[in-house]
Amino acid sequence: QKKIFSGIQPTGSMHLGNYLGAVRKWTELQNKRENITISIVDMHSITMPHNPPALRENIFLMAATLLACGIDPSHTTLFVQSSVLEHSELNWILNSLTTMPRLAQLPQFKEKSRTVRDVPLGLFVYPVLQAADIMLYKATHVPVGADQVQHIQLAQHLARGFNTRYGDMFPICNPLIEENEGSRILSLREPSKKMSKSDLSPKGTINLNDSPDQITEKIKKAVTDFTSDISYNPNARPGVSNLVNIHALVTGQSIESVVEEAKQLDTAQYKERVSEAVIEHLRPIRELINKHLSNRNELIYILEMGSEKARKVAQATMTEVKQRLGLGTVG
Ligand code: TYM
Repeated sequence: QKKIFSGIQPTGSMHLGNYLGAVRKWTELQNKRENITISIVDMHSITMPHNPPALRENIFLMAATLLACGIDPSHTTLFVQSSVLEHSELNWILNSLTTMPRLAQLPQFKEKSRTVRDVPLGLFVYPVLQAADIMLYKATHVPVGADQVQHIQLAQHLARGFNTRYGDMFPICNPLIEENEGSRILSLREPSKKMSKSDLSPKGTINLNDSPDQITEKIKKAVTDFTSDISYNPNARPGVSNLVNIHALVTGQSIESVVEEAKQLDTAQYKERVSEAVIEHLRPIRELINKHLSNRNELIYILEMGSEKARKVAQATMTEVKQRLGLGTVG
């Protein structure tokens, strides 16, 4: 059977890129009764300077949002990374299986390290922790957006390295990436970049808990170009094409039919139509987010149950890992 694992950082709210690129796929897999584990990766969120009270709130917000998107804790193991200590333990062990040049060439590290004066070691080692996340659950498939491909390749490299040195133990995981354009939703303000929680201009990112007015405002201000009709050409017209793409994904229509229906509209009119479609799609999700957020005890209970299930698997893996490495005194 497939074993599916994925994670999301509780840095701010979930945005439309997370949702269309990854989270929607998770619920699909869950509803096909796949074995799936999802982690709210709070230890990844401290690799850049952060605000502790906000992190705690965002863990609950992320849990509420995942539930609102359809993650069902009776089928999916949903837990917070830091509650399962084995993640840092395996991270440490994997640190010795890769090299500094291998980590230094990763695009996400290069990008993020440019934004801070002194690069935290945690930021550098970040993808090794991600590999530990995947390997602890012996995941065979990892559904992610296109931006995570290099990180998944590192996880494959570490699993191979471990298997070669210590004997076959870990599957080499496959990334599952949406084939449609959902795998890469772009910033509304800078359509050369992906939509991101760390976008310096918050107007570039639509959050799942944004109000209808906020969504309308952000889409209205989305950067397009000097051509007023609507067409789909991601290279020549990234801004408009990103809106067409989002529109198609939230309505379930094809790109062609979205463009065809927008034939009579100019960009301003089209933006109104996209706003309406996004607001309609997110309305029930937003209501559910608020419902789940208002019941913190339920969220704590769900996450605790999830941690317990995850811990069992993670502990079994670590017992085996320690045995293979000759660590400790038992086994
Ligand atoms: P994170 O929290 O940045 O994003 C969560 C998921 O959303 C996808 N995503 C996007 N997809 C399409 N368009 C976008 N603009 C966009 N932005 C984000 C991401 O690809 C991701 O799938 N390092 C990971 C978290 C992680 C993880 C793991 C993932 C930690 N451990 C183990 C898989 C397996 C991250 O920062 O995702």
